[in-house]
Amino acid sequence: MTSYRIALNFEDGVTRFVECKVGEKVLDAAFRNRINLPMDCSDGVCGTCKCRAESGVYDLGGDYIDDALTEDEAAEGLVLTCQMVPSSDCVIAVPTTSLVCKTGQQKFAATVAQVTPHNDAAILLELDVDAATVAPAFLPGQYVNIDVPGSGQSRSYSFSSAPGDRRIAFLIKKIPGGTMSHWLARAKAGDRLDLTGPLGSFYMRDVQRPLLLLAGGTGLAPFLSMLEVLGQAGSQQKIHLIYAVTRDLDLVLVDAIEAYVARLPNFTFATVVADQASSHPRRGWVTQHMPDDTADGGNLDVYLCGPPPMVDAVRHYFDDNGVKPNSFHYEKFTPNVALKESA
Ligand code: FES
Repeated sequence: MTSYRIALNFEDGVTRFVECKVGEKVLDAAFRNRINLPMDCSDGVCGTCKCRAESGVYDLGGDYIDDALTEDEAAEGLVLTCQMVPSSDCVIAVPTTSLVCKTGQQKFAATVAQVTPHNDAAILLELDVDAATVAPAFLPGQYVNIDVPGSGQSRSYSFSSAPGDRRIAFLIKKIPGGTMSHWLARAKAGDRLDLTGPLGSFYMRDVQRPLLLLAGGTGLAPFLSMLEVLGQAGSQQKIHLIYAVTRDLDLVLVDAIEAYVARLPNFTFATVVADQASSHPRRGWVTQHMPDDTADGGNLDVYLCGPPPMVDAVRHYFDDNGVKPNSFHYEKFTPNVALKESA
């Protein structure tokens, strides 16, 4: 290993990746990549470069003063980038915008490889990123904005594929009259698309405890990306996915989820259909089908991607049942609306 990949997540949802050489400090690596992270003294004295390390292994050395970073802050995962020397890939949350750091969103182009309708409810769009471009780096769970050709508009879609491949995929809800749905109905292999990203603070953190994944409709997409990453890593962690949809025909790619049962020894999942007229064995809302051990002393990380009412319903469920998860990350999306909101 000659370098580590550092994801810098800015407050405005922009993520930039930099290569940090072995023994190099994060601040220097960012600067080498033309990203001016906040700094003043560069010497562990002022604390201006304080950020939060969300994952990864690193050394802070001991050459900084308590005024810059206290022991408690360091124990909580705060770091001084002018002192931080990674010894693995890391994810760092930077408490300012990309603009302030003189960087911004990344644009790249891709070619349509395949458009696969599923049940007339969703479309799997697979794209090949141009060979001349560096394969897009992203964190599992993040999204991009895709310009819809000829419309002057863009739409946000989470990657459903894992990072690292030139073939990237998106699971897109089919909306009659929708801008992207309309374009996809005529799209063919070889068509060109412009993308901007990766974006969003909804991404999988270090997996240190059981995961509860809650997908609403095509909110399944980011979890397919996460499951693939967990599968590649051979995760032994307990993971439960609830995939909730409105109608029977909205249940898509269930065989793809099923495949992870064989790959991940502690992975379980349940599908839920809201339509009371459905003959599906689990009807109703996601909150009616939470696993019995959800509370489990709060020893779980929860990820939810779905429409705003689903986020609110789950939050109320936790409050009403005294469930205080270690963390609750969510992404609200409304089909046919350009932007996502993540937390
Ligand atoms: Fe002053 Fe890092 S820049 S402590």
